[in-house]
This record gives sequence, structure tokens and C-alpha cells, in this order.
Amino acid sequence: MEFNEITLSKEELPKNYYNFMADLDKPMPIPKGDMSILGKVFGKSVLEQEMSQERFIPIPQEVREIYSLLGRPTPVYRARRLEKKLNTPAKIYFKREDVSVVGSHKTNTAIAQAYYCKKDGFTHLTTETGAGYWGSALAVASTLFDLKCKVFMVSSSYEQKPYKKYLMKLFGAEVISSPSNKTKYGKKILAENPNHIGSLGIAISEAMELAMQDEKTAYCLGSVLNHVMIHQSVIGQEAIIQMQKADDFPDSIIACVGGGSNFSGIAFPFMQKKFKDKEINFTAVEPKESASITKGKYEYDYGDSSGLTPLMKMYTLGKDFIPELIFAQGLRYHAMAPSLSHFVKQGKINAKAYAQKEVFLAAKIFSETQGLVPAPESAHAIKEAIEQAIECKKTGESKTILFNLSGHGLMDLPGYAEVLNFK
Ligand SMILES: Cc1ncc(COP(=O)(O)O)c(C=O)c1O
Repeated sequence: MEFNEITLSKEELPKNYYNFMADLDKPMPIPKGDMSILGKVFGKSVLEQEMSQERFIPIPQEVREIYSLLGRPTPVYRARRLEKKLNTPAKIYFKREDVSVVGSHKTNTAIAQAYYCKKDGFTHLTTETGAGYWGSALAVASTLFDLKCKVFMVSSSYEQKPYKKYLMKLFGAEVISSPSNKTKYGKKILAENPNHIGSLGIAISEAMELAMQDEKTAYCLGSVLNHVMIHQSVIGQEAIIQMQKADDFPDSIIACVGGGSNFSGIAFPFMQKKFKDKEINFTAVEPKESASITKGKYEYDYGDSSGLTPLMKMYTLGKDFIPELIFAQGLRYHAMAPSLSHFVKQGKINAKAYAQKEVFLAAKIFSETQGLVPAPESAHAIKEAIEQAIECKKTGESKTILFNLSGHGLMDLPGYAEVLNFK
């Protein structure tokens, strides 16, 4: 019998976060503009991590326990049936961040952020959500740390994905369709267009505005910033041990990118100095409909639409860009993490973009061969993995490909039905 699953024991759950900033060849461009906003909306602990140069940051025991409760460490699978279907000499592995009930990698940072905010004396958390994965992750983290949570959900997603809304409510969160009439910025947008489809940039502005008004409310961000990338490093650290157990090592690492956190999670630990002699090809995959790296500019821009955040140097389509409506709502963001952008600019990470239909068709091949349902976001990584495996078939190379399955798509079946025309 061939084994397809590489598991880790609870003891192998990482004890530290890995901080990519300790291994930078070239410093990242520093943010500009009004930095005082950060101190108003974020807790002290996450801000310290945002600037930290420490290579390893201990993961608090309570956080490790909740990681374990929600299914960490997560398995790595070898996609042998997909390999067979593609008739490729490539070996395809994927890291399963889809296994928790919330269904994505977002709990890795949600639990950490809720823990640190509680420790810093906050009683309420506020945030944005696109696809609803991040909102559900922060909702479950909030209830487990006895915090109140308010989530601004992009209005088109609020309509498209009602089950995500119910999941957040089940965990005790308040869910508000964004743009909303709860904030000055939301009211301004609604006055211009009462049927606005919303965007992550707008929802971030609304959540930050709320946090600025109350010192007991912290704002939490689900991607983009350095501390989020640090928390997500549990993915790659586990995958390193799992690839060792498989007696293999990736030639290629692939993940989808919205703000960049699941990509950083799987990729940055493999970019540590200790692996500098390994030649790994890193590919970040974005939607053609919101292609910040492949179509945007590398320049200073705001992380939100109203211009509340400091200016960060990153790949961006501009803060006012409203991405086309696609089911991968978690990838509908105008910009890309400054850290990931920095590596792209240095030529260490490549980017690819695919359109919705081809992405869903790739997801269908994966579902039919592996018996799993990927999130529309994760399906972008699957599409690229399939493309690379097909290329291996042409060249005869037996490459080892590792991709991140960032989430499950069980609550996105209406999206599958629409794009793939199920009757
Ligand atoms: C399942 C899933 N994958 C990927 C993403 C994209 O975000 P990031 O680039 O921060 O991983 C999201 C965002 O909501 C998501 O929910």
C-alpha cells in the first residue's frame, strides 16, 4: 500500500514562529506617512512583532493548545491520484490548511492576535473579511478568548456566501455588510453608490475607523502585515519536517495570494539562510481579475481605501481599484504584502495570474482525483501546480512540487455551480 499522508504528532507542533526579517539580504523599504494610527488601533504586542528582528519568537503555550484544538499540526498529502491523472513524472505534495471547521489557514494568525490583544487589555476586536474565512477565524478566536468581535464583510460576499455569515454568528460575532452606515467612510461610499459591491480596502477602512473610536477595541488584520506573515510561519515549519519525513525536498513551492499570508506561511520558512544552497522556485498565484503583482506597480500606497494606514511600498493596483466580482473573494485585494512584494522585486518570487473559469476547471480535476473540495482561492495554486506538472511531462523532469491548500470550498459550492454551470 502506498501512503499518501504525512502527519506530525502534537509534540511536533512548532514552539516558535519564524521571523523572515532576521534573514533579509536587503532591508525592506520603510513605511511613510502618519504612523500614529498604528498605536491607536493595534495592540502593543503585535506592533512589537511587526518591527521585530528576532529570528524565532516563542509561541505562547495557550496559543499552541488552541492550535491543537483546531487541528494543528495539519497533514501534508502526496497527490498521487492527480499525478496519475496528469501522467506526469512530477511529485505533487500539498499542505492541508483546509482541515479545521473554519476551513483555512487564517486561524494561525487569528488565535495569536486574539491572545495578544487579550493580554494587552482589549475587550473588543474589529476586522474586515472578504471570503469570510478570516472573519470566521477571528470570530472563533474571539469566543475562545472571551472577546467580542465585529466583522465588516464585503457586501457582495455577504450576499454570495450566507453560510460564512452564519458561521461567524454561531461563534458570537456581529457581522456587518460593508460599505455600511455604521461608519463615516461607509456612509460616504453608500451616498455615492447605494448598491456598492464593496471591497477589502473599504471594509478595512470601516473596521479601523471603529477601532480608532474606542480604546478597548483593537483592529486585527488578516493578511499583509509582517506580524501576520510571522504567525503563518507554522505552515512552512511543519512542512519542512514533513518533507524530511517523506525523504524529499521541494523544487517548487506554490500558493495563491490575496494579501500574501498563506504564501508567506508556506514559503518564507523555506527561504531561511540554512536552505540558501537549495534551488527552490517560488510562485505566487493571483487572479487575473485582481492582479496586483502582474498588473500593478511597485510603489507607495495605502493598505485601505480611505487612506487611514501609513504608506507602504508594495505591488498595488491603487487604493481605489475595485476588483471585478469573482468567487475567490479572499483574493480581491488591491495590493500585496510589502514583504512578499520586496522578494518579488528582488527576483526571489515569481508571480502568475489565472482567470476564474480556468481556475475552477483545475479545482474540478483536483476534486475528482483527490476527493477534496478546494476553496476558490486555493484553486489558483492548484491550477499552477497542474501547469507545472504538465510542463514536467513535456520535459521529462521529475520535479517535487509543494503547494498550499489554503482552505476548503465546502461553503463555496454555489460558486462552483455557477462557474461550472451545474444544473
Ligand atoms: C482560503 C483562503 N486562501 C487564501 C486567501 C488569501 O489571503 P492570503 O493571501 O492572505 O493568504 C484567503 C483570504 O481570505 C482565504 O480565505
